[in-house]
Amino acid sequence: MSKANKQQIYSGLNSKAVHAGTQRDHFGGVNTPVQPSTAIEYLNESGSVPYPRNFTIPNHEAVATKIAALEGGEAALVLATGMSAISTGILSAVQSGQHILMQSNIYGGTRAFVDILRWKHDIRVTLIDRMTPEELDSNMTGDTALVYMESPTNPLLDIIDISSVCTWAKDNRILTMIDNTFASPVNQQPLKLGCDIIMHSATKYMGGHSDLMAGALIGKNDFIERCRTLSSVYGMSLNAVDLSLLERSLKTMVLRVQKQNSNAMEIARWLSKHPLIAKVHYPGLSSHPGHEIAAKQMSGFGGMMSFELSGNDTSFRDAFLKSLSMISVATSLGGVESTMTIPAQTSHSLLTPEELNAMGIHDMLIRFSIGIEDAEDLIQDLERALQ
Ligand SMILES: Cc1ncc(COP(=O)(O)O)c(C=O)c1O
Repeated sequence: MSKANKQQIYSGLNSKAVHAGTQRDHFGGVNTPVQPSTAIEYLNESGSVPYPRNFTIPNHEAVATKIAALEGGEAALVLATGMSAISTGILSAVQSGQHILMQSNIYGGTRAFVDILRWKHDIRVTLIDRMTPEELDSNMTGDTALVYMESPTNPLLDIIDISSVCTWAKDNRILTMIDNTFASPVNQQPLKLGCDIIMHSATKYMGGHSDLMAGALIGKNDFIERCRTLSSVYGMSLNAVDLSLLERSLKTMVLRVQKQNSNAMEIARWLSKHPLIAKVHYPGLSSHPGHEIAAKQMSGFGGMMSFELSGNDTSFRDAFLKSLSMISVATSLGGVESTMTIPAQTSHSLLTPEELNAMGIHDMLIRFSIGIEDAEDLIQDLERALQ
């Protein structure tokens, strides 16, 4: 019997990353074949019309099955970008006239989408600074349909107590959705903490090589089916070539993220002792206000951190960034290579100066995505640039 017809038995995250969903070709090859066709014979087909925009191609099925297995969900949908996952997920969970309770301190693109929800969809959004049951209680209305959160947050690595928010939401029959991009399923599995819907910018740790854009939604079968219907119409599916690249990347995600976790821990400790660094935001440090909750709900603290340079001199900040040699000053995050950004100029550039100020995103704040290079080389690069 060929392996393709055997039932595979495994339970570990690495085994799921390598094997879940992956389809064999008819020569016995171990990789899912790339199927870029847009014209697909349909006379013998039943069910949905076979057309890539409708998420019908085998490359979609392979990646969606793998991501659902990695997050422990019933089903997943893979989309063109993280933002398409956010917009599809929210618009599938909430109707016009309803209300969302959203964490205020989150990724800038999501914050910018709030305006579209308000003005184009007549969906009310209350932004909440502290996602505690008391705050949620006092901001809830009769039409609240969704609690939207992110943990750890971009760029300040705030931690919220996911199970306490989800327990509150279940008691009030309200859906919960979380952006799990920073943690990745390697470090945090929100469905096990009671969350209903997970989204990822798969552009980041899932893609992992800074060479593709993708998004993912994970949840119950009926919810993912609703998302599929909506995003087929909006046209937010991903093409076969990028799906294939994403599938290849997912196979090594656990190994990459574990190295990023250990590098980040070592670098956060080093930075927190440096006299030119005013503050390090990393949930793995015991000084981080969310450390205890992070230790409870995460199996690793992740490869993302941010830090504040001492003083207010932006020319010192710019000179530091220009002096880095191995670390690139570049947008995006989660790749094998280490990168830094100034959030006010990049991920949060759509926000007003008042909004940035209220979120605590200042000019001297630098976001740091730690790659898989050797920690000693990264520390040497930082040390030289800080001189
Ligand atoms: C936490 C987080 N969520 C969502 C997104 C949006 O993802 P994408 O750029 O793939 O649309 C980003 C992008 O930086 C992000 O950092």
